[in-house]
Amino acid sequence: MTISDSDLINAAKDARENAYCHYSGYAVGAAIIDDNDHLHVGCNVENAAYPLGSCAEAAAIAAMCQEGGKRIVRIAVAGGSGDITPCTPCGGCRQRIHEFADESTVIITMDDSNDWQRYSIAELLPAGFHLD
Ligand code: THU
Repeated sequence: MTISDSDLINAAKDARENAYCHYSGYAVGAAIIDDNDHLHVGCNVENAAYPLGSCAEAAAIAAMCQEGGKRIVRIAVAGGSGDITPCTPCGGCRQRIHEFADESTVIITMDDSNDWQRYSIAELLPAGFHLD
């Protein structure tokens, strides 16, 4: 059974609790529903060698691939330094999402009061790169 947007948001918030972000202090969680209706989560994982840090969306997408998901149906991203504030995916993660998205994919961001925004990948990454 497909989970609701608010349950997906809560899964992203829960994943954010495990963020390893000692350097930036900015904790991010991401939760994906894939084309098999399965849930996958990830958090950001930083490193003392700063460029080696990875984003929450990258972790959630890797988990989806590992478990056989092919498409992102919905992805929620919860980020912030203290309270949750709207965290639109970074440029690199827009391209990562684009790889597994279609025109019906929904990207959800939110703040702590559960006011949320919904985007398509075309809104976040117009003319995204495809390898033909
Ligand atoms: N971060 C994400 O996990 N996803 C994004 O889309 C934006 C940024 C992480 C990377 C880094 O660990 C921290 O947030 C601050 O940039």
